[in-house]
Amino acid sequence: MLPFVRRKSYIELLVIINMTESFLKYKYEKAGQGHLFKYWDTLSEDERQSFASQLSTIQDPAAFLSDVQEAIKYSSSLAESKIYKPLPTSICCSSTIDESKKTLSIWHHEGLKLISQSKVGIILMAGGQGTRLGSSAPKGMYNVGLPSGKSLFQLQCERILKLRQLASEEFSVPSHNVHLPLYIMTSKPTRAATEMFFTKHHNFGLEPNDVIFFNQGILPAVSMDGKQFLLGSKNSIVESPDGNGGLYKALHDNKILDDFHKRSIEHIHAYCVDNILVKVADPVFIGYSAINKYDIATKVVRKQDPSEKVGLIVLDANTNAPCVIEYSEISKELSEMKDPQDPNLLMFRAANIVNHYYNVKFLSEMIPKWISSRKYLPYHIAKKKIKYFDYVTGVTKNPETPNGVKMEQFIFDVFPSVKLSRFGCLEVQRSDEFSPLKNAPGSGSSCPETCRLEFLKRSTNWLLKWGAQVDHKDTLVEVDPSTSYDGEGLQFVKGKLYHDGDIL
Ligand code: UTP
Repeated sequence: MLPFVRRKSYIELLVIINMTESFLKYKYEKAGQGHLFKYWDTLSEDERQSFASQLSTIQDPAAFLSDVQEAIKYSSSLAESKIYKPLPTSICCSSTIDESKKTLSIWHHEGLKLISQSKVGIILMAGGQGTRLGSSAPKGMYNVGLPSGKSLFQLQCERILKLRQLASEEFSVPSHNVHLPLYIMTSKPTRAATEMFFTKHHNFGLEPNDVIFFNQGILPAVSMDGKQFLLGSKNSIVESPDGNGGLYKALHDNKILDDFHKRSIEHIHAYCVDNILVKVADPVFIGYSAINKYDIATKVVRKQDPSEKVGLIVLDANTNAPCVIEYSEISKELSEMKDPQDPNLLMFRAANIVNHYYNVKFLSEMIPKWISSRKYLPYHIAKKKIKYFDYVTGVTKNPETPNGVKMEQFIFDVFPSVKLSRFGCLEVQRSDEFSPLKNAPGSGSSCPETCRLEFLKRSTNWLLKWGAQVDHKDTLVEVDPSTSYDGEGLQFVKGKLYHDGDIL
């Protein structure tokens, strides 16, 4: 120990703790949050310390509550009409559905080459609480009932392994020299269980060095009028992850950008854990984005009908910038308009599936700016049913209707920072690429049953295309990611007969 650093006496420590507590109380009472301390005197020393340390993470409670009021105003102003147009096809839109085989193969080749050079990284967004699904474990651990019983995490990791193999074969690079690191964004509620699951399963075959966990931020939940923090218990407030837009701050705060640079990663694929069909680090998408020198690109699927509840990638005609409109913001008239080029299609049909490409140089330049001001990443409010401790009655309540507000940032709010000519929008086939797990079993849409069905339909179609036979029209076969990443390499099935539940 340095000579001039004296160990503090027990009394001195108590004085410091008490001063900190008094200051905390003062800050919160001044912000109108005195109710948080109603049970303070009944708490043990340990309980007080953990509560104080949670409360001290919010630097300025009054400023946070004023941000909440801003967010409430902002969310209602979004409904005000802006002028939207579809993104201009000639500048920034392509479609894997309409594109020639030759172009697709050029994109694929380029993407695979970048993967073989270890210039690609993957961000998996797995910080959400999956409240609609209702599982207590993180969504990625969910088994939707495939014959193999594999979880979403396992399917995704095995796709990465397969892609490394394909890249190493195509470009004659030893596979141990092909690094395709997976950066997993978790949050306080999902981190421990996710990390333990990966450890238990030996990272599903990925090298430990190429699996990097980092946490996104957390924000307090508040009452419906945005004026009071909610207690989760006598000695804690309710918190929730700061939304998928928390990604940018999390990349910065956890020095993940530095890690990209250290590993010479130039291109990022970011996606959501809950899409069972996701083509992780899709070489076609990486190649498309890299060849076109996009700063950000996004995959979209066709909106199915005017009433489908999906956000849309559009052009803000006032600013000539790409942006997303939520389904609640689009008028009935706009949502029903047909494409003059093809009246079978909706004019506004680019449905957002939160599946992005990022150029690392652009991210590194922009993130400090994006996270420095709410102008780029405002808070949005989400009205939710929030379990809370009622300080008046002293009872924990589990409301049946929304009783509070969670604060979230949206990942796409930074899209208007991208020049239109540097923004790519790639339409992909829904049945090939998008089937999200959102709702509880039995709910009929975006639920475990639909994910299972869509996954098995896709693999069975691959087999049929290669000339396999099935014993019944409803037969569904599972193709393992280690057998095929995207339907390639299945020539061996030609003429063979498959039965329901078979796994290849
Ligand atoms: P959703 O917005 O569907 O949220 O997330 P969710 O947490 O999965 O489900 P609900 O709304 O509570 O029912 C879409 C994707 O974004 C990630 C999720 O993990 C999922 O991959 N996400 C969401 C985060 O990583 N962090 C967040 O704060 C929110």
